[in-house]
Amino acid sequence: MSKLAMNGGKPVREVKTNPWPKWPVWDKNDEKSLLDVLHSGVWSYNGPKEAKFNKAFAEFIGTDYAISVANGTVTLQLALEACGIGLGDEVIVPGLTWQATAASVLDINAVPVLVDVCEDTWCIDPAAVEKAIRPRTKAVIPVHLYGCMADMDAILAIARKHKLRVIEDCAHKHGGEWKGKKAGSIGDIGSFSFQLSKLITPGEGGALTTSDGQLYEKLDALRNCGRRPEKEACADKGAGVYGSEGDFIQSGNYRITDFQAALLIEALKRLPEQNQIRHENATYVNSLLSELPGIQPMQRDERETMGAYYNFSFRYNKTEFKNLDVAMFRKALEKELGCPIEPSYEPLNACSLYTPHTKPWRHKLSEEHWNQIDPTRFDLPVCHRIFSEESVCFHHTVLMGVKADMDLMVKAIEKIHDNVDELL
Ligand SMILES: Cc1ncc(COP(=O)(O)O)c(C=O)c1O
Repeated sequence: MSKLAMNGGKPVREVKTNPWPKWPVWDKNDEKSLLDVLHSGVWSYNGPKEAKFNKAFAEFIGTDYAISVANGTVTLQLALEACGIGLGDEVIVPGLTWQATAASVLDINAVPVLVDVCEDTWCIDPAAVEKAIRPRTKAVIPVHLYGCMADMDAILAIARKHKLRVIEDCAHKHGGEWKGKKAGSIGDIGSFSFQLSKLITPGEGGALTTSDGQLYEKLDALRNCGRRPEKEACADKGAGVYGSEGDFIQSGNYRITDFQAALLIEALKRLPEQNQIRHENATYVNSLLSELPGIQPMQRDERETMGAYYNFSFRYNKTEFKNLDVAMFRKALEKELGCPIEPSYEPLNACSLYTPHTKPWRHKLSEEHWNQIDPTRFDLPVCHRIFSEESVCFHHTVLMGVKADMDLMVKAIEKIHDNVDELL
């Protein structure tokens, strides 16, 4: 009789009786906070909850400023614009990331230069960054991917040497720390996503963090149709702006609503405790996974003083599983555990959602630019190996339960290993 859940056997985890933690989470305070906004009538336009969240988020990240923005895609776009980057410039981004990291560069008419990642962290490879620098290179966007953190010491050293801006894509790293400094406070600007699956969320949203006053003023203006930052960022005190006409800058509307801010305030209060639970569970399960044949935990750099896990991932080696393909391994594990298990992002030189050449009317600024933005011109062997042979990724909710959940994860992998013949 078959043992594996894939083949009708009893799963390691019965999700009907033992469901995984749900996401998103909320409580009475969220309900009250939403009703406060509803009754106030100040639903949007630099509302009081937004101002309160911005202050709390800046304090949490450890920057002088935080600005709420519509999502974690336009945050990147505005960050690049605030740095004065545009047509003819090049920006270095990792080949293994969500498409927005590169698409934002494309949308400000600059050239995204895709580079490979480190195989043990899946984050941008500093040596590849250095190799890709050319006279028009203006910035680098390290992405702190899933549970890992880019080597910020190496990135900052390269950036200083070559006078590059550093925009940290922290869409996966709300609260993670490098040598005691939070992600988003290390480079020139931090960019956060608050989309539904992220570590704090009001459904959609994003934020920018910086301690550079000049960048802050530009970022805030770019977010708000080019208006100068308000003296009091509170609609109930009047939506006045300061600065003279000449100070305005061309831009669009990337604001959030006060309903979003209301949920973000509550979510931020819960984040440190949730991060601690995920951090402890990840540390525990990684110590067990390191003992299993064919499973390699992600490398945890000692300089990463606090973990933050948007995903929990590890590396799979099929030779220890009689050459069972990683896609089949993920499927079998999914059946044992009853939760979605995904590969990494598709490398951006072969990603179905990163296709600059589908829009000639927008991106064909010149023949040269057109050739430069062709993602297939980049070689990303490590990204491809991770995506097609190694990656096993869980949503962060699997880390939000108890230690026994981690033991089940290990048990499920062992079960597949011991019964792999059923899948061959
Ligand atoms: C690494 C990374 N950067 C940027 C984004 C874009 O964020 P948003 O979905 O809020 O636009 C995401 C979203 O998944 C992401 O994972």
